[in-house]
Amino acid sequence: MKPRLFSTLRCLRHENPLGLPRSGAPPQIPRMQRGLPQKRSIRNVKKVIAVSSAKGGVGKSTIAVNLALSFARSGHRTGILDTDIFGPSIPTLLNLSGEPRLSPNNQLIPLSNYGLKSMSMGYLIPEESPVAWRGLMVMKALQQLLHEVDWGGLDILVLDLPPGTGDVQLTITQQVNLDGAIIISTPQDLSLKDATKGVSLFRKVNVPLLGLVSNMSSFICPNCSTLHPIFGPPDHIAEMCRKYDLRLLGELPLHPKICEDADRGKPTVVAEPDGERAKVFAAIAGTVGELIGLEK
Ligand SMILES: Nc1ncnc2c1ncn2[C@@H]1O[C@H](COP(=O)(O)OP(=O)(O)O)[C@@H](O)[C@H]1O
Ligand SMILES: [Mg+2]
Repeated sequence: MKPRLFSTLRCLRHENPLGLPRSGAPPQIPRMQRGLPQKRSIRNVKKVIAVSSAKGGVGKSTIAVNLALSFARSGHRTGILDTDIFGPSIPTLLNLSGEPRLSPNNQLIPLSNYGLKSMSMGYLIPEESPVAWRGLMVMKALQQLLHEVDWGGLDILVLDLPPGTGDVQLTITQQVNLDGAIIISTPQDLSLKDATKGVSLFRKVNVPLLGLVSNMSSFICPNCSTLHPIFGPPDHIAEMCRKYDLRLLGELPLHPKICEDADRGKPTVVAEPDGERAKVFAAIAGTVGELIGLEK
C-alpha cells in the first residue's frame, strides 16, 4: 500500500474536526454514562507501562526508549508509544521518520528500529511544524495513537508520557489498563516536587507505581573521577522514596554519552550494549519485568 497520512488525522487537520457525518442520518448521540470512563486494553498487547514525571527535561523519553530497548534485547516483543503530542522525541531517539503505512483495516503500522516497534505523532506531521491544537483535537489524536495502531502482538508496550498532569495523563491513566507506572526524577528539589504530583496522580487513579528512577543523579569527572552531585544530593531521592513508599529502581549518572547517543538516534543500550549504563537499564527492565509479571 502507498504511504498516506492517517485518514482521521487528515480529517482533524483540514476537513472535519469533529469527525461528524457530512450528510445523511444525523449524528448518533451516545447514551450518557455515569462515573469514570471504562478502562480499555490495548489490542494485542500483553503488558503496558507508563514512564512519567510531571516535569519536562528530566529524561523520561531517554529512559523510556532505553528501557524499551532493554526489554527487546532480552527477547520480548516490545513497542514504544510516544504520547507527547506537542513534543515527540521518539523519532529522533530511534532515528526514524516518514509516514506510517495503514493496514488493510485502517490501523497505523508502527515504524521499527533496533528490534523495537514505535509510534509517534512525530511520524504524522512534518518535523518542523508545531502542533497548534486545542484539547479536543489532541484527545482525538491520542485516542488514535492508543487504539488504532496495529502492534501485531507485543509482550510489552512502553508509553512515553509528556510532562504535566493534564489531559493526556488523565486520559491515559483513566482509559488504559496500565500494568504500572515508573516515575523519573533528578535529585533536584524542583524536579522532586513535580514528581510528587505524578505519584499522587497515579495513586488517585489506582495505577500501580513500580518505582522511581533517579536520572542525572551524579556526574563523575572524566579527569579526576570525583563525583559531583550536580542536581543535588542523592539522599533527596532516598528521602522521597521513603516518604512516598516508592522503590528506587535504579540511578543513572549525568553522562555526556547518554545525551550524544540520544541525539544521533542510537540510544545507549544499542550504542554501548555491554557498557555500565546499558547494564543499569537492563537491571531496571529486569526488576520492572518481575514486578508486572512479564513472561520470559
Ligand atoms: N542521564 C543523562 N545524562 C546526560 N544527558 C541526559 C541524561 N538523561 C537525559 N539526558 C538529556 O536530557 C535532555 C532531556 O531528556 P528527555 O529524555 O528529552 O527528557 P523528557 O522526556 O523528560 O523531557 C535530552 O537532551 C537528553 O539527551
Ligand atoms: Mg519527552
